Amino acid sequence: MNNYIKTLISRMAISNNVVLTAEHNAILDYAYRYYQKNKVGPLYYNFKKQLGISKTQINRLFPHGLYSVYNWVDIPLHSAHFPCKSIPTIEVNDYRQVYLDYNATTFIREEVKKVLLNYYSGNMGFGNPSSSTEPGRQAWELINSAHEQVAQCLQVEPTEIVFTGCGTEANNLAIKGIALNHYQEKGHIITANTEHSSVLRSVQYMETLGYEVTILNVDHDGFVDPDDVARHIRKNTILVSIMAANNEIGTIHPVPEIGKICKTAGVPFMVDAIQAFGRIPLQPKKLGISLMSVSSHKIYGPKGVGALFVDKECNLAPLLHGGRQEGDLRSGTENVGHIIAMATAARLMNAEMINESARLRELRNYFIDQLYRNIPDIIVNGSLQHRLPHNLSIGFPRIDSGSFLLGLNKIGVYVSSGSACSEGSRETSHVLHAIGVDRHKYGTIRFSFGLQTTKDDLDYVLKYIPVLYQELIKSGDKPLPDGQD
Ligand SMILES: Cc1ncc(COP(=O)(O)O)c(C=O)c1O
Repeated sequence: MNNYIKTLISRMAISNNVVLTAEHNAILDYAYRYYQKNKVGPLYYNFKKQLGISKTQINRLFPHGLYSVYNWVDIPLHSAHFPCKSIPTIEVNDYRQVYLDYNATTFIREEVKKVLLNYYSGNMGFGNPSSSTEPGRQAWELINSAHEQVAQCLQVEPTEIVFTGCGTEANNLAIKGIALNHYQEKGHIITANTEHSSVLRSVQYMETLGYEVTILNVDHDGFVDPDDVARHIRKNTILVSIMAANNEIGTIHPVPEIGKICKTAGVPFMVDAIQAFGRIPLQPKKLGISLMSVSSHKIYGPKGVGALFVDKECNLAPLLHGGRQEGDLRSGTENVGHIIAMATAARLMNAEMINESARLRELRNYFIDQLYRNIPDIIVNGSLQHRLPHNLSIGFPRIDSGSFLLGLNKIGVYVSSGSACSEGSRETSHVLHAIGVDRHKYGTIRFSFGLQTTKDDLDYVLKYIPVLYQELIKSGDKPLPDGQD
């Protein structure tokens, strides 16, 4: 076993409160070696035969039985034959590929690809932006222009944009940056229970360092109540962090109202806008927002680059110390190619927002109407009214979403479900849990639409969903818990 697997095992053991014994190690070691050799995970039967360890013993030793064993040694769950009882297969004579997972990530659009290719061909700006040479100056100009373009989208100043290594980093910088600035006296942070893990885990980490934390509950549609925010603000509150829109259920939070409350109370307001940027208008200065994160790969830019708006009145401690790049908030030689690509992506997204959002909203509404016609007892998770135009989270009664996802995958339709069979995790989705979805009754699929989505694509998906659904109902697969990124 390599060091990565060993670290993974110890991390999983710690997070699941499992004290590793010789028996655990024997099971994990055998599973790991079996997978290396056979490229599929072992079944309970193999453990019994080779190690004399029964299914009951494995289920007693690991929180989710064989699922855990696989997870802990990094065996993809879909490599096993057992977890999704049946992957339904249906005949399609008009096969096509339909990507409906734009909330997870987007392709790199042509205009952005051109910027990347131009940069990586070495034609421009390969120098170090901090160097005084001509190539360095050119690189610096590129970074400068990227600041201007992103700032223009948000109607803020270029120096108020900090480029980061991803959206997760932007969220971490905002939360930990504010908190570390109050390191001596600590303080109180407010967030909500449907935030992305990069926010929730950052806040929870600060709690372990002695900060006080309030995690607000959302209502049945996934909304944070602004009055609840107001009620929980205290004298020592140093940050309120509420996302603009949710990545799983698309719910758009009442950001203007929360912004007003924070401004009146003099508390910095952080907004994770990673799903919302370029989908709904967001001007931080008008909305009382002090910090706002964006990620390139959700807006047709490359992965591994993000940005944080930091209001000039807002003091942050940097997480990286070094050459003082990005206004001393993100030291390290800038990823010039990705930064300029992200700026192009942001500019285009912003320019096309109104028309593209209207187009996607119409397609989404068509899709849901047709779905209701064929499967009337589906449920829509989250509000339909205050929702990102390109998101739809649907609960399908009486089926396992993992099997559904894999069935759709087989006919070229790519969506998210996040259940055991699909994403190697059996953790329940904290968002679905927070809005009270009965995950034993419904298997949830997230459909998300984007630039390449057409009505023909949706008609293809709509044609086969009812067939696949009936196959699943016949197979008797029960819903498994979901969890989405
Ligand atoms: C709402 C939200 N916040 C943060 C992130 C993390 O962004 P990144 O993938 O760029 O680290 C995501 C990505 O799924 C997201 O949807």
